[in-house]
Amino acid sequence: MRTIDLLMAEHDIIERGLAVLERAVRRIESGQPVPDAYCRWAPEFLAKFADACHHAKEEDLLFPLLKQRGVLEQGGPIGVMLYEHDAGRDCVRRMREACAAEPIDKANLAAASKQFITVLRQHIFKENNILFRMASNLLSEEEDVELDARFTQVEQQRELPAVRERYTAELARWEREIP
Ligand SMILES: [Fe+2]
Ligand SMILES: [Fe+2]
Repeated sequence: MRTIDLLMAEHDIIERGLAVLERAVRRIESGQPVPDAYCRWAPEFLAKFADACHHAKEEDLLFPLLKQRGVLEQGGPIGVMLYEHDAGRDCVRRMREACAAEPIDKANLAAASKQFITVLRQHIFKENNILFRMASNLLSEEEDVELDARFTQVEQQRELPAVRERYTAELARWEREIP
């Protein structure tokens, strides 16, 4: 399915971001330097790419369609996914607060980042292996095409292709700088 393929490709980008963040956390915890510019970039990548670009398509378009097709929200997989998106937002809020301090509060940044990494890795695993498989079984070819058109519409309205391009390029730079 093209919509699920797009969401899974975004998961790959998010997971690359988590791998860099994990290396940065390890550096902070072992007293090695991490550039302030990276510390400030990481929560923005998570808020603007992982949340506003990726989670928004799930919450605004995919999940409502799956609900219509009988997938449960309350007490079911969609409720769990929404809860985890919110838990991630709370971590990003704490990361941003830590970065707003002068100097940056790296201990709190590391603590919130670690929590975020754990939540999001499990979340992506569940979507890739459970929810997206359910979606592939439930949705017809026509529904996929229709959903894809809505993805494109929302992406254009919110200028998400530019967001994805910008953050993917910046991520590649931090992957090289924090090996
Ligand atoms: Fe999600
Ligand atoms: Fe996702």
